[in-house]
Amino acid sequence: MTSLLAISDLHIGYQENRRIVEELRPVSASDWLLVAGDVSEKVSDVEWALGLLAERFEKVVWAPGNHELWTHPSDPVQLRGEERYRHLVELCRNLGVTTPEDPYLTWTGPEGPVTVAPLFVLYDYTFRMPGVATKEEALAIAYDKGVVCTDEMLLHPDPYPTRDAWCEARVAETERRLEARTPGVPTVLVNHYPLVRDPTLVLYHPEFAIWCGTERTADWHLRFDVHTMVYGHLHIPRTTWYDGVRFEEVSLGYPREWRPRSTPPGRLRHILPSPQPVA
Ligand SMILES: [Fe+2]
Ligand SMILES: [Fe+2]
Repeated sequence: MTSLLAISDLHIGYQENRRIVEELRPVSASDWLLVAGDVSEKVSDVEWALGLLAERFEKVVWAPGNHELWTHPSDPVQLRGEERYRHLVELCRNLGVTTPEDPYLTWTGPEGPVTVAPLFVLYDYTFRMPGVATKEEALAIAYDKGVVCTDEMLLHPDPYPTRDAWCEARVAETERRLEARTPGVPTVLVNHYPLVRDPTLVLYHPEFAIWCGTERTADWHLRFDVHTMVYGHLHIPRTTWYDGVRFEEVSLGYPREWRPRSTPPGRLRHILPSPQPVA
């Protein structure tokens, strides 16, 4: 039976994670794989991993994570911001991998059809802690606590003045695309960040939530007929439900995170057909 599978946060800069990716295989030759960002910081690593997966799965769908968008000093590709994103999109197209810039796909397997939409929406510092009114105040608290996302140093928003301005543009463009989708067909949305804030409420460092999404997408799971929302970034793999909509955090995460778990790392999450609920 053909399946729609998902994973994210492969972080193949870690050798152990690279070996896990080498072992990722479809269950059936017709399976699709959704990759919800953070493959690697290096463009050549992204190309290697997505190329390998594109050879094995009938279709691979990618949404960018913050790590792909970093301009890391160790990467020979020093493109920044929008230029870096467009470079990755071209790389994906050459591999046959679907990106947020391509027409949405229709998956017609069991429980389908669904529209599969990879998204690039970013974040805008609106997931602030209670009582914190502005981005500036939230950043000051985070710096004070020493909980600062590396994006502040390496994720450049060029040509936008700020990451939140880039996010605003991405939200507007993505809303336009989603509103123009095929009507009457449920969607599977794939975004590096959760579209609602709730999954960030369990973060060990609540200050970190400002780098994890935007309030502007808070009703998208209801507005856009979402069957399942697939995300990563938090490195807290789990299934949750909001307003009756399934959210799947599908991250592999860092070796120090997956090593202590009892479940083997690198298991692909089944999005469709829906897993049987545990009685
Ligand atoms: Fe990650
Ligand atoms: Fe991330």
